[in-house]
Amino acid sequence: MQQTKSKGFKGDSPSKKIVRFEVWDYISNEITIRTSPKVLVLAGPEGSDVGVATQLGIDVKSITAVDTNKKCVTATKWRYPEARVLHSDILEVVGKESFDFVFLDLCGPITNESLTIATSVADSLKRSSGYLAFTFLCGRENPKSDTSKLIAKTRAELNRSEKKVKLAQISRATAVQQELLKRMRKLNCVVVPLKFWFYQSTNSFQPFGVYVCQILRTNKATRDVSNDIANKANPEFSFVKDSFLPKTAVGVIARNLDPQMTLNASKGSVAAWKAHATRGTYA
Ligand SMILES: C[S@@+](CC[C@H](N)C(=O)[O-])C[C@H]1O[C@@H](n2cnc3c(N)ncnc32)[C@H](O)[C@@H]1O
Repeated sequence: MQQTKSKGFKGDSPSKKIVRFEVWDYISNEITIRTSPKVLVLAGPEGSDVGVATQLGIDVKSITAVDTNKKCVTATKWRYPEARVLHSDILEVVGKESFDFVFLDLCGPITNESLTIATSVADSLKRSSGYLAFTFLCGRENPKSDTSKLIAKTRAELNRSEKKVKLAQISRATAVQQELLKRMRKLNCVVVPLKFWFYQSTNSFQPFGVYVCQILRTNKATRDVSNDIANKANPEFSFVKDSFLPKTAVGVIARNLDPQMTLNASKGSVAAWKAHATRGTYA
């Protein structure tokens, strides 16, 4: 398994660490059954997705990390010398190559621009019936934008039981799914929603969502079947809190995964989690 060096970046909230791990755990089960799966991630300040992916059995050489920020490219190259790290716009990369999974962790509000990027990435995934994960902030949309109108509309359409759960999150999840489905239909594809995660980051008042879906190309013969699959899909919703981290870490240790890499954690946290694992605190 990939070993790494760390400069000790501690920017992630505990719930983001959990969600990053859970998304990769879910997706690695889907893609590692494929022959030589290729994945594309945004590098970010420490290339954390590269570390988690390699822990979950994805070959570091099959990972491309891309970023428009040179500092993120340098930091990720330093940490994961074997990964392919590009200083580029993600749209240029997906315009030239195809991948089995793209983690589009833009971590910003839902805007026309972020949905346009997600649509271009999704369009590139139709060649491989690939998977997309798209991260979005649940709030701070421009109140005059079409996105805000769509969120308000989906919010009004939610039935009472859904309203009781988490209105802000579910209305945005529904808006993202509806908008991607609409845009991808024009490109002869369907979007199959698979799972939503929600978490609260320590540096933001609003929660974040992560949407995972599969892109299927359709033609006259397959359109009805594909639409049926998309319509019947019943994506699971998962709400993650910071306080879940020690339990997740103990699960990671029980699976013989490296908790420092898998959860982008400090050595001190790992020592405490190992003590919990030995004591059977969460057994
Ligand atoms: C939230 S960070 C990604 C963090 C990473 N997934 C992790 O878990 O550590 C988002 C990154 O995307 C980069 N970015 C934003 N838009 C981009 C684009 N169109 N092409 C390439 N990189 C982009 C930003 O510079 C930023 O470093």
